[in-house]
Amino acid sequence: MTDALAMTVRTRSGFATILTCVLAALAGLMFGLDIGVISGATRFIQAEFEVSNRAIEWIVSSMMLGAAVSAAAAGWLSATLGRKRSLILSALLFVGGSMLCGVAWSPWVLAGARFVLGLAIGTATFTAPLYLAEVAPGRIRGAMISTYQLMITIGIFVAFLSDTALSYSGAWRWMLGVVALPGGLFLLGVLGLPESPRWLLLRGRRDEAVAVLDRLRDDPAEARREADDIAQQLKSPRHGWRLFLCNANFRRSVGLGVLLQVMQQLTGINVIMYYAPRIFAGMGFGDGAQMWATAIVGLVNMLATFAAIGLVDRWGRRPILYLGFAVMAASLGAVGALMQAGTPTHAMQVAVVAALLVFIAGFAMSAGPMVWTLCSEVQPLRGRDFGIACSTCANWIVNMAVGASFLSLLDGIGATWTFWLYAAFNLVFVAFTHVWVPETSGVTLEHIERHLMAGWPLRRLGR
Ligand code: GLC
Repeated sequence: MTDALAMTVRTRSGFATILTCVLAALAGLMFGLDIGVISGATRFIQAEFEVSNRAIEWIVSSMMLGAAVSAAAAGWLSATLGRKRSLILSALLFVGGSMLCGVAWSPWVLAGARFVLGLAIGTATFTAPLYLAEVAPGRIRGAMISTYQLMITIGIFVAFLSDTALSYSGAWRWMLGVVALPGGLFLLGVLGLPESPRWLLLRGRRDEAVAVLDRLRDDPAEARREADDIAQQLKSPRHGWRLFLCNANFRRSVGLGVLLQVMQQLTGINVIMYYAPRIFAGMGFGDGAQMWATAIVGLVNMLATFAAIGLVDRWGRRPILYLGFAVMAASLGAVGALMQAGTPTHAMQVAVVAALLVFIAGFAMSAGPMVWTLCSEVQPLRGRDFGIACSTCANWIVNMAVGASFLSLLDGIGATWTFWLYAAFNLVFVAFTHVWVPETSGVTLEHIERHLMAGWPLRRLGR
């Protein structure tokens, strides 16, 4: 635990802040469960409904489609309904979508249910990091938003494990339907959250905003100062897309958020998340071994995210990203080279698993949590809903493209070149980080906003 985190948790208001953040971060758990749960279920769904690979692709990707659609609308939703009610809506959709998956009577009902889950995920992945950035104090903001990514990885791991356990009986309806239970817990958690003070101020409800800040900050003077600072930033009449049209500096922030999410997805992480069992099968692993190796991938993803939480506010965002992209480029380069060597020997199988685990660890320590953190930090308050909606939507569109193109890439250019392609992306992203990614660690959101909206160079922000 970082010193700032340890200090915060000791005070009453600090504890309340952390509890609030953890409850909101449960949105990540739901996201992870729904991402992870499908990879082990498709085999059984295909057998029960006797459908083609094409239908399976629809069942898998209808969720990402729903997520892209609702992420695009979530900016409007969270500005209109507020952050809390948006999270409640997403929790209801999670519960309803999961139950429908469990009782789906046809493949198309299942695809529809996954689309509903996608709507939940798009709303949650937009609102939760936004909410976290808005309630966490600057000194622990990075760690709190990374907690959200940690929850995603816990969700993926738990889903991989439960799939592995249920795969022996082939109970795919349980695999998908059981997610309604954590969905119910998430609903209870978000019902207890306070509304975001920044949204309340945006709506002119200053007294309520100060009351929330009083509860979440140690010092009443700090709470008032923060409320004044936020109110000051809200003075301009232009918000959201109007601001986008008339302000080049805001367009730069939106562009930065979109670039960050495109980089995160083009690391190739979801190739592994969605197709790990298939990749292991291609390396000669049997049915059980594929599932267990996939569960280990989920475990490493989760453990390495813990490391990121400790480092994010200490090392800063940029050094972690440099390191992460370099490690990912090297490990995918190695996977590509190993795949070139023809019939896999036992030593090669071990080496591929090791290289993939290094890749996963590299992602989980860097681009995974750091991108969600940065995207919620670099948007000015007046355009935050719009800016994060654009970047979250970009995440889901590229996510879908990566998921939908992997098998065709394998057929078209082969495994080696496919992995080398993703290795090359990661290498390029080291340079992108150097040129475009600002350091936001330890800086208040208001300071970040002043810097970016003044049009000052991105690299000069922070330490
Ligand atoms: C990030 C990505 C998501 C990915 C996950 C894996 O949250 O946005 O697409 O599946 O990390 O841990």
